[in-house]
Amino acid sequence: MGSVAERLSAELERPGLVLSEPAEVAAYTTDWTRQFSGAAPCVLRPRDTDEVARSVRACRKLGLALVPQGGNTGLVGGSVPRAGEVVLSLSRLNAIEAFDAASASIQVQAGVVLQALHEDLAARGHVFPVDLGARGSCQIGGMIATNAGGIKVLRYGHMREQVLGLEVVLADGTVLSNLNSLKKNNTGVDLKHVFIGSEGMLGIITRAVLQARPAPQAVQTALLALDTRHRLPELLTLLRERLRGLSSLEIITRDSIAFYKEQEPSARAPFDKPYPACVIVEEETGAGGNERDAFVERLSGVIEAGLAADAVIAGSDAQAQAIWRLRDGVTEAISRAGLTHKFDVTVPPGALPGFLDEMERLGDAAGDLRTLLFGHLGDGNVHVNMVQKPELAEQAFYAKGPALAESIYSHVAELNGSISAEHGIGIAKRAYLHHSRSAEEIDLMRGLKRLLDPDGMLNPGVLFKSD
Ligand code: FAD
Ligand code: LAC
Ligand code: ZN
Repeated sequence: MGSVAERLSAELERPGLVLSEPAEVAAYTTDWTRQFSGAAPCVLRPRDTDEVARSVRACRKLGLALVPQGGNTGLVGGSVPRAGEVVLSLSRLNAIEAFDAASASIQVQAGVVLQALHEDLAARGHVFPVDLGARGSCQIGGMIATNAGGIKVLRYGHMREQVLGLEVVLADGTVLSNLNSLKKNNTGVDLKHVFIGSEGMLGIITRAVLQARPAPQAVQTALLALDTRHRLPELLTLLRERLRGLSSLEIITRDSIAFYKEQEPSARAPFDKPYPACVIVEEETGAGGNERDAFVERLSGVIEAGLAADAVIAGSDAQAQAIWRLRDGVTEAISRAGLTHKFDVTVPPGALPGFLDEMERLGDAAGDLRTLLFGHLGDGNVHVNMVQKPELAEQAFYAKGPALAESIYSHVAELNGSISAEHGIGIAKRAYLHHSRSAEEIDLMRGLKRLLDPDGMLNPGVLFKSD
């Protein structure tokens, strides 16, 4: 019989495709949060679409389930094995294949890392308008599979809005290819949308054609200090009205900044005293010396209206990066710290002040947790992180999870929000999907799964428990 790795190697007859050395396999079996981990008999590392299709067919023939894995930065446990599945890594499909200037579109393989795409396009005077803190590791295929959002959604949308064409390997090894670069293509059901956001349970994304954009002429960046969170909806309204090129609007609360500074003592405080919240504002403007002055003028209206108490306005790229460092630093500090209950939710922006207060109240009531709130203010997307205090034992920490999730998600549902703004459902949230999707919708999703993957071999357990 031989081991799974031996049987797959024999079936595939491709040297270097199967990784089975336990120490090497271990690098693929724990997720970014370190809260999801499982054993895999081996890792498959195909180099192109054909090898992905062969790998899928071989797994199918041998009755093996598999977990597609990109950069393994997902935050809901969907990218690592849970019950001895084979890992199929897309990392070697990392070619940027073709740029078409006329349509400003770019064709890439699924394993291209986001930062590599940004750098490639920058050299062509273009940008890819999805950006997020995991840019150095997350891959285009993983980002499409999770419909990633990030810090520019309010101007440019999620991954879904950038995908023009897609190539997917189905559970039976069929290659479904529609790598077109057309903006307009109303030829029946737009099948790519079935796979965007499907978290690897309906097919394996191998290539995509993405919409790039000409680089903005200039980008202005500021950090606002707020002395109350209760006027956030007014702040949002005014900024939208005044800043017509608004491209990012991010919020970081006082406790999150304090936590970051504890983790990174060399980091400088942005203001001479702590404020209840800070907001990063970014606007894309025209070129020219007056543009920064005009930006300052627009923001001074916000201060005059009493919606911000202080502001730092970047005068150079380095200063802008220092502002963004604060935002990325908070996410990284939380990753490095103890265990964290993570909730990534959207609420209507008008409900934000009350929602933020309620999250802190729930965290305090649960006890021995630090509630750290930050997120994509412009989208009403709050990242609620409840970090284990040192005095809380691991088991007691985990025991608090289900009750917290139930309280938070039912509150989000009452507000007509979503229990997953941008990270997906994965394993972590599947028990709560009903808070955001109706029974009829969940049934239809299950029907799609049965249609496209009747044996349940692609990412079993993601979104809902296997039948
Ligand atoms: P993985 O983690 O490898 O996989 C994620 C899911 O997609 C899994 O279910 C996996 O099975 C599936 N998958 C992966 N590749 C494929 C493929 N080729 N075909 C089919 N299925 C596949 N997310 C946001 O939306 N916005 C943010 O602002 C944001 N910031 C982050 C910051 C940090 C520091 C970190 C660690 C994460 C952040 N994330 C954010 C979450 C994460 O980066 C994104 O969800 C990203 O899209 C995942 O890409 P990945 O390549 O790492 O996918
Ligand atoms: C962020 C991740 C956690 O926005 O989505 O930093
Ligand atoms: Zn985010």
